[in-house]
Amino acid sequence: MADAPLPQRTLVLVKPDGVRRGHVGEVLRRIEAKGYTLVAAELRRADEALLAEHYAEHAGKPFVQALIDFMRSGPVLAAVVEGHRVIEGFRSLAGATDPTVAAPGTIRGDLARDWGTKLIENIVHGSDGEESAAREIGLWFPAL
Ligand code: PPS
Repeated sequence: MADAPLPQRTLVLVKPDGVRRGHVGEVLRRIEAKGYTLVAAELRRADEALLAEHYAEHAGKPFVQALIDFMRSGPVLAAVVEGHRVIEGFRSLAGATDPTVAAPGTIRGDLARDWGTKLIENIVHGSDGEESAAREIGLWFPAL
């Protein structure tokens, strides 16, 4: 009999806008309602060094410093979530990057909006692939 596939893991962040607006419980509820498993979760303030590493693949893009400053503006809920195809599945739960066009029913489509600034405040982050998930989990949860 073939071995069961290893469950996949992803890093989820509830960004400072999500924490400030009281959406941590709703994000975790949607993750659990979908059937994924919470492996670790911690409310913390991220420093510049951690965020520069986290967003290293976007270094040099025009929005990066504003994004890092935003991510330092308050606590974030960092979580490791597990399940078969969870990377793709969580990004589907999150919805499109731009909250104005994110589909209703998604976290961003239901809970986020454009506030008329150049900053995109879109409630959550989810790793975009297996390599970035492993790298990001190692950064935020080195003991895992
Ligand atoms: S790209 O250029 O296509 O790779 O960018 P994208 O995948 O859409 O976004 C990468 C992350 O950058 C965030 N982002 C922004 N944040 C704040 N303000 C602006 N203007 C902005 N543009 C992009 C976007 O939400 C992604 O963050 P994470 O944390 O990965 O969701």
